[in-house]
Amino acid sequence: MSEPERRRTPEQLRSHQWYGSEISSGLRSFSHRARTRQLGYLPEEHLGKPVIAILNTWSDINPCHVHLRDRAQAVKRGVWQAGAFPLEFPVSTLSETFQKPTPMLYRNLLAMETEELLRSYPVDGAVLLGGCDKSTPALLMGAASADLPAVFVPAGPMLPGHWRGETLGSGTDMWKYWDDKRAGLIGDCELSELEAGLARSPGHCMTMGTASTLTAAAEALGVTVPGASSIPAVDSGHDRMAAASGRRIVELVWQDLALSRVLTREAFEDAVTTVLGLGGSTNAVIHLIAMAGRAGVTLTLDDFDRIARRVPVLANVRPGGGPYLMEDFHFAGGLPGFLSRISDLLHLDRPTVNGTLGQQLESALVHNDDVIRLRDNPVADEGGLAVLRGNLCPDGAVIKHIAAEPHLLHHTGPAVVFDDYQTMQRTIDDPALGITADSVLVLRGAGPKGGPGMPEYGMLPIPAYLLKEGVRDMVRISDARMSGTSYGTCVLHVAPESHIGGPLALVRTGDPITLDVAGRTLHLGVPDEELERRRAAWTPPPERYERGYGALYHEQVTQADTGCDFAFLARPGAAPAPYAG
Ligand code: FES
Repeated sequence: MSEPERRRTPEQLRSHQWYGSEISSGLRSFSHRARTRQLGYLPEEHLGKPVIAILNTWSDINPCHVHLRDRAQAVKRGVWQAGAFPLEFPVSTLSETFQKPTPMLYRNLLAMETEELLRSYPVDGAVLLGGCDKSTPALLMGAASADLPAVFVPAGPMLPGHWRGETLGSGTDMWKYWDDKRAGLIGDCELSELEAGLARSPGHCMTMGTASTLTAAAEALGVTVPGASSIPAVDSGHDRMAAASGRRIVELVWQDLALSRVLTREAFEDAVTTVLGLGGSTNAVIHLIAMAGRAGVTLTLDDFDRIARRVPVLANVRPGGGPYLMEDFHFAGGLPGFLSRISDLLHLDRPTVNGTLGQQLESALVHNDDVIRLRDNPVADEGGLAVLRGNLCPDGAVIKHIAAEPHLLHHTGPAVVFDDYQTMQRTIDDPALGITADSVLVLRGAGPKGGPGMPEYGMLPIPAYLLKEGVRDMVRISDARMSGTSYGTCVLHVAPESHIGGPLALVRTGDPITLDVAGRTLHLGVPDEELERRRAAWTPPPERYERGYGALYHEQVTQADTGCDFAFLARPGAAPAPYAG
């Protein structure tokens, strides 16, 4: 199915309601044109041309986006070249590193800002600049709800890290060497060198963490120009991609290709297939479900598990595979090369912002079969995630089993329960807790409401005395998320969360817990009658927020299995267009 050619006239542009094309079209148009002259433009520079909003998440505080100020200029160049009128809008920045307790608390706020900004201003199409973890879903959720033509410009991965001849992956090697420090294998001098070597340039994390996973998902959804997601942030090609995105959005506006015509059920199935075949971040589960919801598509945990069983992991990129990083993936063919290896599992005739997906992949090549593996030599036979069910997670839980020690994928052990992250951090190294390599570490109070914002606490630390004995993985269970750069046998996103009385709230230290990844189960070995007694005695924790955004978040956020969107944003229904008169 090739994309139908709709052509709009200047009078059919949304922005025409603000500016008009004739001097006589009303007082408001007169005022808007006068104010545009105040901005320094002549009427012929903007009248009758599509207005393209460039939503920029640049900020001094966000090292993953610090180059986006320049990239916005490249987008503008492309928009002007294509005969349209670019306007840059600064929007919230979500810095995974610096924003506390977690930028996930603010994903829906940026989504809301994106939607309302696109709705309330004279905008015909949008270019969205983001990439650090939550910014990609936030921008796309908001743009999907506004439903204008839009192109996403991924921030691009930073350059690979280096230390003493080793290549470092951001996040992944930070955790690894931090554990080495706790185990006494390296000291402050080495740690100081590592600090200088981990992050060498602007750009998002260069492992297949959450940022790379979600920008790849955006490309698979069909909302970027081809090959955009893996271009290193500081590569000249990134500037060229940004300019190409500016040119492309103008054509999409004339075609009237609103996001709803791209973000179809088939597009989301392909994005799930992509994430699983990349061995991508568990965070993608929550974000894709939320993005799909905004596009009117029902995506469930079962879709992930169903698709995972038929998609091999082909991206040999850390932390799910390795030793490679995103720059290697880019030079091996990037996402087009990767998608060409699984094209039989994709919907090739669906529309993207560049024609059909099949057309986009016609010239795709793979240049390195060790980075992007052949189908008969996968990194893993099945997609990188599994969805678990059981009496401990009736609404589901997720595990990235390809990043786990194989011997722990079927494991029974006694629970050691922590009620909150701070207590766990303070006490985890205390031998009096009796934690052994067979213990199952349980953290609760870290879900969407309990965290709040479901922080990335899911890779619970291993006690230092076990690290010194060489233990590097244990079964860990929480209602938290986990950084896409993390690894280990970590059961995440347990739903419903403990804060609202999910079964995780009822676990006691010493209870046996069985994880069976092949059977897709997580079971608490406590009789139902005893669980009912515990439930009757359970009291909900006190609420933290009496006012403000936190109170709104707490009231409206949904559980992990439905994407943690706000209920009032996720529900279908009309939002009237503004009256521009
Ligand atoms: Fe921004 Fe990792 S900190 S992507």
